[in-house]
Amino acid sequence: MSDPVEAIVDVVARTAPEVRAGLAGRRVYESEENPSGERQLAADVYADELLEERLLDLPAVGSYASEEREAVVDGDGGEFHVACDPLDGSSNLKSNNTMGTLFGVYEEPLPAPGSALVASGFVLFGPVTTMVLAREGTVREWVLDDDGDRELVTGDLRLPDEPTVYGFGGRVPNWTDAFADYVAEVEEELKLRYGGAMIGDVNQVLTYGGIFGYPGLRDRPAGKLRLLFEGHPIAHVVETAGGASSNGERSLLDCEPDGLHERTPLFVGDDEYVERLEAALS
Ligand code: AHG
Ligand code: MN
Ligand code: MN
Repeated sequence: MSDPVEAIVDVVARTAPEVRAGLAGRRVYESEENPSGERQLAADVYADELLEERLLDLPAVGSYASEEREAVVDGDGGEFHVACDPLDGSSNLKSNNTMGTLFGVYEEPLPAPGSALVASGFVLFGPVTTMVLAREGTVREWVLDDDGDRELVTGDLRLPDEPTVYGFGGRVPNWTDAFADYVAEVEEELKLRYGGAMIGDVNQVLTYGGIFGYPGLRDRPAGKLRLLFEGHPIAHVVETAGGASSNGERSLLDCEPDGLHERTPLFVGDDEYVERLEAALS
């Protein structure tokens, strides 16, 4: 394949249905924790091992990093570096709710700034398995079959003009007063949609318009989500679709992680709601 980035995307598209097929028997917790100190499901480890093996097999992939691994795994000299959240929303596995695979393709070694992303996207294990990909200024959406063959359903996915839904993580008593005041306004205007898997909740925002976030909390000012594995790739998708992203102050793509697993407050969606959020937190 002459297009190395497309080859990377194709490997994710073909691996994700195998990840999905392997979920049923892997709903148990491993003894290990991931580098963020969170309990690992057998499914997290399975997804991570499949993706690492398949992606590092590609000559174009110089290294692989994931939320489930302490350090970057070096390949042999490829020009692209892939960061994965192999299973985003894995706590939804026990409750049989949506989750999926999230990835970013960087042209600089990891951890890299968001500006080094050349493509990012996710495979969503919903009632239908879909892939959303942001690349070269356009967001496209495919339906995936069990072999990972793709049928294009949206050639230019754009955030709707009219926002409809919102979803914010973290426990309400742990929200800062400034954030709680902002949410009090938003809940007068939009409908609550929060499903516990970022990519599922963001797909609601891409479909219906609005805002998703996981704020910095009183006891965890950096919030829960990881800049490299969740913030950058999802911000790149939403900004490419005509929306905005923020860590509360600036675009997530303008943020460069010091460490691979650095956490960040994360907001993505309709630019008016992101602007109002930054004003509320300033
Ligand atoms: P992951 O399963 O990859 O750790 O991601 C879970 C994240 C994100 O997908 C979701 O938005 C958030 O955790 C939900 O957190 P809470 O369970 O605290 O709401
Ligand atoms: Mn995640
Ligand atoms: Mn995960």
